Amino acid sequence: MSKKTSKEEYNVLKSRLASIGQPQLLRFYDELDAEEQALLLDRISGLDFSYLERFSEKNVPGGRGTITPLSAMELPEIALHAEAFTSAGEEALRSGRVAAVCLAGGMGTRLGFDGPKGCFNIGVTHPVYIFQRLIENLLLRVRELGRWIHFFIMTSEVNDEKTRSFLGEHAYFGYDPAYIHFFRQEMAPAVDEAGKVLLESKTAPAVSPNGNGGWFRSLVRAGLNELLIREGIDYLNVFSVDNVLQDICDPCFIGAVLSGNYASGSKVVRKNSPDEKIGVMCLEDGLASVVEYSELSEEMRLLEDSKGDRVYNFGVILNYLFRVPELLTVTEEQLPLHFAHKKIPYVDEQGISVKPEEPNGWKFEYFIFDILGRLGPCLPYEVVRERCFAPVKNRSGVDSVESARALCLQNGIEL
Ligand code: UD1
Repeated sequence: MSKKTSKEEYNVLKSRLASIGQPQLLRFYDELDAEEQALLLDRISGLDFSYLERFSEKNVPGGRGTITPLSAMELPEIALHAEAFTSAGEEALRSGRVAAVCLAGGMGTRLGFDGPKGCFNIGVTHPVYIFQRLIENLLLRVRELGRWIHFFIMTSEVNDEKTRSFLGEHAYFGYDPAYIHFFRQEMAPAVDEAGKVLLESKTAPAVSPNGNGGWFRSLVRAGLNELLIREGIDYLNVFSVDNVLQDICDPCFIGAVLSGNYASGSKVVRKNSPDEKIGVMCLEDGLASVVEYSELSEEMRLLEDSKGDRVYNFGVILNYLFRVPELLTVTEEQLPLHFAHKKIPYVDEQGISVKPEEPNGWKFEYFIFDILGRLGPCLPYEVVRERCFAPVKNRSGVDSVESARALCLQNGIEL
């Protein structure tokens, strides 16, 4: 079939956009030169409009099932079984059944760093990049086991090229590139208050990464599911890019999940205050779930049991273990969609670029933990926060470069 001329393409797109109430995307088409017109048509054609069909879910009050507490496997119990768990985990790792997945598609806006978060340097006397810290941790495991672990890195349109070239320039910090597999997450359109897709420029609709919950679909889309099958990988340890003490492919954790035949596991820490910005583990309609910190009610935050202990006190550090066959059974459309009210730069009707001071629109996001309940039983597994949780979210203060540096030093990591 011959490629449609741009005029034909334009007409088809124009009527499609009119039918879904999004004609504004072609507002500046006639002002553009031929190359720009083609670029705009291409970008619009690449948009996933299915997100817009769910925009009305934003107004569904509550939108959640009944939330009840979920207990965790706590440190004393883990210590009792540590030997057996560790040896089961090591066996799974040695036989190549477990791979690592780093979620690095986010924008790192809070850190105020104009690059992929993993490329941020937390060093004091010499450069120590976040990716370097993660890879150093994974390399410890590789050395212990005497074999490479497949390492997947999820990027997004906003940082893919920079991430790949940065890691290439640094020779993957000593990791064997044959075991590193990049894939890109999907982008979602960003809309104004009325649900109309904004234009970031005259030639580009506003888009943003669709949250960290789309990671598995993106991995499959990139064809990497074949690698999982070929290599016999049936567990994935998925973690965030921003924790510089991230313990990756921890055999004790893996062994605990495998031994209990759980479909997933989630590392948790005791919250250091009711206001700590971490999602809390719970049950939702009897199934494992997480309520994100941004959606946590005052009541849940402060609820205490008869002994005066906080009921929702185990927070997730974004280090999960998932069993692959179960992951294959869930589609993204089955997951709740979250709506983030944000300041989204756009060009107005006159073609003037606006950088809003206040939130002016919505971004669509899937959250990784929303899949937990659909997979089957999940093991919340307690870890010692000072050893495994040093998130770099902000420049200074709480969860910052400063606090992460202090925790690295406390763990004997020279910066
Ligand atoms: C996240 C968790 C929160 C947890 C906390 C621990 C989610 C939705 N939130 O919160 O429950 O308690 O970490 O520190 O899991 N990412 C992508 N693509 C995206 C968005 C994010 O890959 O579109 C990645 C980021 O690069 C990062 C991770 O997901 O590695 C967490 O993203 P971020 O938005 O910083 O989450 P938090 O709000 O800190």
